[in-house]
Amino acid sequence: MTQDLRVAQGRGYLAIPGPSVMPDAVLRAMHRASPNIYEGELLDMMEPLTADLRRVARTKHHVAIYIANGHGAWEAALANVIAPGERVLVPATGRFGIGWGEMATGLGADVQVLDFGKSNPWDLDQIAEELRADAGHQIKAVLAVHVDTSSSVRNDVPALRAVLDEVGHPALLMADCIASLGCDEFEMDAWGVDVMVTGSQKGLMVPPGIGFVFFNEKAAAKRSVMSRVSRYWDWVPRANPEEFFQYFGGTAPTHHLYGLRAALDMIHEEGIEHVWARHQRLAQAIWAACETWSENGELRLNVTDRTFRSHAVTALRLDAPNGTALRNWVQKNLGLTLGIGLGMAEPGDPARDAFFRLGHMGHVNGQMIMGVLGGIQAGLSALDIPHGHGAVEAAAAVIAGR
Ligand SMILES: Cc1ncc(COP(=O)(O)O)c(C=O)c1O
Repeated sequence: MTQDLRVAQGRGYLAIPGPSVMPDAVLRAMHRASPNIYEGELLDMMEPLTADLRRVARTKHHVAIYIANGHGAWEAALANVIAPGERVLVPATGRFGIGWGEMATGLGADVQVLDFGKSNPWDLDQIAEELRADAGHQIKAVLAVHVDTSSSVRNDVPALRAVLDEVGHPALLMADCIASLGCDEFEMDAWGVDVMVTGSQKGLMVPPGIGFVFFNEKAAAKRSVMSRVSRYWDWVPRANPEEFFQYFGGTAPTHHLYGLRAALDMIHEEGIEHVWARHQRLAQAIWAACETWSENGELRLNVTDRTFRSHAVTALRLDAPNGTALRNWVQKNLGLTLGIGLGMAEPGDPARDAFFRLGHMGHVNGQMIMGVLGGIQAGLSALDIPHGHGAVEAAAAVIAGR
């Protein structure tokens, strides 16, 4: 006899692809009275904080901080280097590539989208062709989403740099690392990225609310010839402030800064290479489980080639409406929240209920991932969704290094 007993009490797990799980150390650092914004500790924090941010981004160049989410960071980056009427190329591999392009359209840019669909990485030959065809160098920037969180495609940024170099195209390479920084390997300077945007709420393990724009000298040179840049988005005073308030274009995000300090300490104490390796190992465990479930039944990983899968988010599908049914079941019965599918089907289309995503970014460890996978296993069983057997064991073997 099946017994219906909810076991959702206890600490819940938000396994969505951002905002990510907040470390207690970050929460504790933020739990304090308001600091003085005119002198003292908060002001003294900024230099080491920006240096440690640059270490995570692997850049010697500049960082500007905005009180903003990822959309704000997108706009900030564009506002500094793209004038109305200038062309940008967007190789899109999911909803977020399209979204950054829409943001550029809103700023008056001439946006050329190369849409590679919802499951495939960039086709570098096609990008090369577009760049070659632009003999007059009208394209001023390529907007490159490293990991598209909707599809979980992870694109090859250094290969895109190589294409720009081979073609001899001077466009800025602008990378969205909102879902990858602090999770997947990313090397801003070594990979020749000119501008990089990210947010606080995923690999950086801080609540949503601060956005970052990193930029190098080539991007700074383009900024310097812009006929006008909005005072608020202008990265010059933020990156080289004469007064403290200029870091933020106004009042500082006081508590976020304390949280960020704690998070950066955690990242550097672990070591960024280890952070990448941890995400990779945990992602491989998730893939091992999902591939096993998919051997018999309807579960499918959105990205078939492991080379192009994010190590921080995994997009999956079941037959509709089982994706939504599974999410609802694990949330109600186990206290486990999985991510909704994003950008895979239009609103009102019943196919939307097929998709779901797992977030495995930031403050995650082996037992949390095993918990997510065990929870999904319970949901598949409870809902009688056909699936291959041995998935949790397969994941455990990966975590065990077998
Ligand atoms: C890759 C990527 N770009 C941009 C965004 C937009 O960020 P936000 O929702 O913080 O505005 C997200 C959010 O999930 C994202 O994952």
